[in-house]
Amino acid sequence: MSDIFSPVRLGEVALANRIVMAPMTRDRAGPGDVPTATMVEYYRQRASAGLIVTEGTQPSPAGKGYWRTPGMHSEEQIAGWRQVAEAVHGEGGRIVVQLMHVGRAAVQANKDPDAETIAPSAIPCPDPIPGPDGIPVATAMPRALVTDEIPGVIAEYVAAARNAIRAGMDGVELHCASGYLPMQFLSSNSNRRQDRYGGPVENRIRFVVETLEALAAAIGPGRVGFRICPGVKFNGMDDADPHETYAALLRAVDGIGLAYCHLIHIPLEGQDALDLVRANWSGAVIENGALTLAKARAVLAAGRAEAVSFAYLYIANPDLVERFGRGAPLARANKANFYTGEGDDARGYTDYPPLTE
Ligand SMILES: Cc1cc2nc3c(=O)[nH]c(=O)nc-3n(C[C@H](O)[C@H](O)[C@H](O)COP(=O)(O)O)c2cc1C
Repeated sequence: MSDIFSPVRLGEVALANRIVMAPMTRDRAGPGDVPTATMVEYYRQRASAGLIVTEGTQPSPAGKGYWRTPGMHSEEQIAGWRQVAEAVHGEGGRIVVQLMHVGRAAVQANKDPDAETIAPSAIPCPDPIPGPDGIPVATAMPRALVTDEIPGVIAEYVAAARNAIRAGMDGVELHCASGYLPMQFLSSNSNRRQDRYGGPVENRIRFVVETLEALAAAIGPGRVGFRICPGVKFNGMDDADPHETYAALLRAVDGIGLAYCHLIHIPLEGQDALDLVRANWSGAVIENGALTLAKARAVLAAGRAEAVSFAYLYIANPDLVERFGRGAPLARANKANFYTGEGDDARGYTDYPPLTE
C-alpha cells in the first residue's frame, strides 16, 4: 500500500510525493510563444507537487493551434523555460514538459501566418476552437502528411525534447489524448491513410510508437512519459474500437522502459480504462480524472496507480499538497480566468493565495 505523501520514482524522475499537477493550457505565453515571468511564478507556487506536468507546449510552429500557448523550438523559448525549471527545482519540485502538437485541431489566426496545419488525413476537426478573441471559430482544413514527411514531424518532437533537457527540465510527456496529432493517427475516424501509418491497428499505432522510441533514444526512456484517454470524443475523435487500439499501443511501447503512462480516466464501455492499462502495460501509471483526495488514496492503496494527478484543483490551490496534508478546505477556481486574465495575465492565475498559518 502506498501513501499519497510517500516518495516514488517514475523512471529517472524521483518525486517527493505522489501528487502530480496535471497539464493545463492557460494561454499566457508572451510574444514569440515564450514563457513569461508570470508563468515562472505560477509554476514556482505549485512546486510542492511531487511532479508538475506543464501546459501543452508545441514542438514546432505547425504544432500550435491555440492562442498564446508556449513553444519549445526557439532559443528564447528555451531560455524562458529554463527560468521555470530553475524556479521549480529551487523549491525542491520536479517538472516535465508536455509536448503537444495539435495537428488538425488548429485555428490559423492563432499561429504564425506561414505555419501549416497538417494531419494524418485531410479531414478537418469538426469542433470549433477559440480564436485570438476567445470566440470559437472553424478550424483550418489540414493537409495530409505524405509518408516521407512523417520522420520530419517525429524529428521536431525529438528536437523539442532535447531543448527541454537543455532548459533543465526533468523530462517530457507526449500528449497522445484530446484529439491532437498523435490521437489523430490512433483513431480510426481521423486516420484514413493507406500507407503503413493507416488502416489496421498495427499501422495506426505506428506514429506514436516511433515517436516514443525516438524520444527515448534521444533523452533516455526514463525521462519520457505519455498521456492517453481511451474513448474520448473531444475534437471529433470517434475510434471504432478504443479497446483494441489502446491495448495494441500499450503492448507495443511496454518494452521501451518509459517513465510512466498518464491516464485521463473516462467511462469506457466494456472494460474500465484503468483495467485496460493495467492489463497491457507493466510500467508506472499516473491516474487522472475528477479525483478527490479520498478517491486518489483508494486508487493508490489498491496498487492500481503509482501516482495521481489533479488539474482543476491546482488552479485555485497552489499548495494542494499542504491542504491535503492538513485536511484544509479547498478554494474554488474561477472558470472565467482559465484561459485569460481579462487584461491582466496574473488574474485567476498567480493570485490564488496559499493557506495562511
Ligand atoms: C484549463 C484546463 C486546461 C487543460 N489543458 C490541458 C493540456 O494542455 N494538456 C492536457 O493533456 N490536458 C489538459 N487539460 C486536462 C487536464 O489535465 C485533466 O486531464 C482534466 O482536467 C481532468 O482532471 P481534473 O478532474 O483533475 O481536472 C486541461 C484542463 C483544464 C481544466
